[in-house]
Amino acid sequence: MKAVVYKGPHKVVIEDCKDPEITKPTDAIVKVTSAAICGSDLHMYEGRSPAGPDVVLGHEIMGVIEKVGPGVRQLKEGDRVVLPFNIGCGECFNCVRGFTNACLFLNPDSAGAGYGYAGLGPYNGGQAEKVLVPFADFNAMKLPGKPYDEHEDDFLMIADIFPTAWHATQQAKVGIGKSVAIYGAGPVGLLSVMSAKLQGAGPIYIIDHNQDRLDLAKEMGAIPINFSTDNAVDFIADHQAKLNSGSERRGEDKLRGVLCGIDAVGYQSLDFNDPGSEEHHGIIHQLAQVVDPTGDISLIGVYFPEDPGGNDENAKQGILPVPVGLLWDKGISIGTGQCPVKLYDNFLRQAVVTGQANPGKIVSHHISLDEAPEFYERFDKRETGVTKVVINPNK
Ligand SMILES: NC(=O)c1ccc[n+]([C@@H]2O[C@H](COP(=O)([O-])OP(=O)(O)OC[C@H]3O[C@@H](n4cnc5c(N)ncnc54)[C@H](O)[C@@H]3O)[C@@H](O)[C@H]2O)c1
Ligand SMILES: [Zn+2]
Ligand SMILES: [Zn+2]
Repeated sequence: MKAVVYKGPHKVVIEDCKDPEITKPTDAIVKVTSAAICGSDLHMYEGRSPAGPDVVLGHEIMGVIEKVGPGVRQLKEGDRVVLPFNIGCGECFNCVRGFTNACLFLNPDSAGAGYGYAGLGPYNGGQAEKVLVPFADFNAMKLPGKPYDEHEDDFLMIADIFPTAWHATQQAKVGIGKSVAIYGAGPVGLLSVMSAKLQGAGPIYIIDHNQDRLDLAKEMGAIPINFSTDNAVDFIADHQAKLNSGSERRGEDKLRGVLCGIDAVGYQSLDFNDPGSEEHHGIIHQLAQVVDPTGDISLIGVYFPEDPGGNDENAKQGILPVPVGLLWDKGISIGTGQCPVKLYDNFLRQAVVTGQANPGKIVSHHISLDEAPEFYERFDKRETGVTKVVINPNK
């Protein structure tokens, strides 16, 4: 079969690889209809992770069951499925508590396994014609409809970024009438807007410097802030003051920020004053200022314990200066880590089926496997209009 293989920084190729084979009774093989390129893939692509060469990439995967092992009870050939990006055994201490992002059994090196990702175990990714699904009853969610129907892209987003964005809103305690600031208008930031909207939050501010992504966020109901022209802290303070003027109680003038903050960028955060370089801790610093006392922050963007491209010795080990004093003084709570997709995927599927949510809206390109190297490069450059790229390997 053909697959997208990582060869080293800025180099992915299409290679003929061995077809996956069922070796355990609980395995299944999925013929991939759609697999997306994720912002997380770009950390590897840029050589900013411990990934060695020859990893088959891709952890946002959906398709049709081609074959099941004799121990698979719920799935059969022909079933349409989406795969949560975290792979869980379903039986360990963490999986049984819902933390499938930290499965203790499937990754020999640490807690948490996933497809085609550095540090997440020996599992091939799904930017390929086929992929192997371990513990398939647990790790494949059945879908209604037919391949490539009107919900193909919506369902694909349930593999990762829709639940991830939803998880960010849960960590940040988003709710009706609550003010939100989201850093990053990439796919995760955009679907955080969608998730916050679905929960009745507002105002929702979103910060980036890619105007096309900010325009899309605005269309989805957010207030865009371009950090190349506006300081987000000042912009939000002014806007909040105007919005609340006339209805404030005593002392509320001290609340000039938001209650919920989301970092949908992570450690490759660009320097607000010099977007040609990175300031790994820039967003945490702004969030500590922008989030009001008693508020909540989600660091849903990735921070790694090892970053070969970090701009000093500490950053190379994921050690970043964080304003603990200010955060403590304000009594702000912080959520971190990978999203446990299975906590949310049934409900998000239902939101798609009933027409409440259309996360596939952010998909900008559908491509063949052969076009993947070109689109890795274009997505990595955040080229205008290249928002979310979906590979259709068998079309
Ligand atoms: N926690 C999880 O389970 C999980 C799952 C999926 C993705 N992620 C992570 O979420 C992050 C976003 O993913 P994505 O697919 O949206 O990626 P993306 O790279 O396409 O989007 C990031 C956006 O952030 C913007 N940006 C860069 N620096 C900024 C700054 N200082 N302030 C504001 N905006 C800035 C960029 O212009 C870009 O539009 C990545 O770190 C990804 O690895 C985490
Ligand atoms: Zn992803
Ligand atoms: Zn487990």
